[in-house]
Amino acid sequence: MTIDLAAFPQDFLWGTATSAYQIEGAVAEDGRSPSIWDTFSHTPGKVDGGDHGDVACDHYHRWREDIALMRELGTNAYRLSVAWPRVVPGGDGPANARGLDFYDALVDGLLEAGITPSVTLYHWDLPQVLQDRGGWSGRDTAHHLAAYAAVVAERLGDRVRHWTTLNEPLCSAWIGHLEGLMAPGLTDLTTAVRASYHLLLGHGLATQAIRAASPGAQVGIVNNLSSIEAATERPEDVAAARRMDGHTNRWWLDPVHGRGFPADMREVYGVELPEREGDLATMAQPLDWLGLNYYFPSAVADDPAGPAPYAADVPRQGVPRTAMGWEVDAAGIESLLLRLTHEYGARRLYVTENGSAYPDVVRPDGTVDDPERTRYLEQHLAACASAVRKGAPLAGYFAWSLLDNFEWAYGYDKRFGLVHVDYPTQRRTVKGSGRRYAEIIRQHGGRERRAA
Ligand code: IFM
Repeated sequence: MTIDLAAFPQDFLWGTATSAYQIEGAVAEDGRSPSIWDTFSHTPGKVDGGDHGDVACDHYHRWREDIALMRELGTNAYRLSVAWPRVVPGGDGPANARGLDFYDALVDGLLEAGITPSVTLYHWDLPQVLQDRGGWSGRDTAHHLAAYAAVVAERLGDRVRHWTTLNEPLCSAWIGHLEGLMAPGLTDLTTAVRASYHLLLGHGLATQAIRAASPGAQVGIVNNLSSIEAATERPEDVAAARRMDGHTNRWWLDPVHGRGFPADMREVYGVELPEREGDLATMAQPLDWLGLNYYFPSAVADDPAGPAPYAADVPRQGVPRTAMGWEVDAAGIESLLLRLTHEYGARRLYVTENGSAYPDVVRPDGTVDDPERTRYLEQHLAACASAVRKGAPLAGYFAWSLLDNFEWAYGYDKRFGLVHVDYPTQRRTVKGSGRRYAEIIRQHGGRERRAA
């Protein structure tokens, strides 16, 4: 399939993304303390197959090999997350030098390879000690995030310019505190709403802390947004789609853009926010960029008996789906990029995650052919190019993921990597989709035109 690569700017970032708990392993090494995901994954019944991140992709020991893979793909950027429990094992308080040393070496290794590091501070691995003190339901956690952000930015900020405060706070708040399907596994609306508030407060405080520690830092937030439509034209379903849009998109976008929390959703939740004067201004720190994680669209219908936001997904018939059951529809990424541009006035955008899971098979000759993932990649890049032609200031694309990895409650069964990982041997094999990504990057000329 042809992609209008000329649409992308010359200094476009071509990247891959991962997160600490999903790939690092080494959970008890060099002073790391347990996170809520260690606790959750070791709780029977929470993760498919009883899987956990104890070893994962063993990236903690194999990061040099993984940088070599990035070079093989020809990427010029890499989005990684720092494990809070590795760097500040007590949640707050002293930093752990050995934890910082790991990320220091990783960043140097990336830069030596000509790969721009983009560092996410919080990709869901809250130190368990903080959860024991209330976690995101309490205000203190927002301040602890900022203190931890300062520690990391002070150490890496001389070399790292791209910073993300939070990855997909929706998952932390709604899936972790309302649906109970992610750590910490709670199912309480009031706690979930309070968590969402403190996450966004933490984002604002961490943004200030990063900028104070590293002037010139480019700071953004990463949201997983979805293009949502009503399953039918019934007024109830149209209203449900509006609620789902509030729950998934507006609740996370409006406060950081200085619009406060959407009034309609405050009413839907009916939960008093733990507001204090000045919080909304803190949440609305000017953003250098916005990150979009896009996977699938959704069609919803009214579901008065269901949990907030009282709207249920209605699977469309006859559409292609990934192994996650997620509908494949590249039009959603284009419409969301344009929405962020026109409705929220984004000045710079990154697709910080986009990818697909399929049940890959290693063939007898050792290769992995994944035409469906290749097609998904091409379709979504073509849609990104179209958004750029229509005015979206897209500055980079990070494929999820560099490696097959620990897919949270789904364990290792769901593979998103451009590189296959054989977990028993930790052997890495670049898949057909990875080779296609390398070809696309070469065609665009991205590697030679590295971002400053
Ligand atoms: O694996 C996750 C990632 O951690 C966050 N965004 C979605 C991915 C696929 O589910």
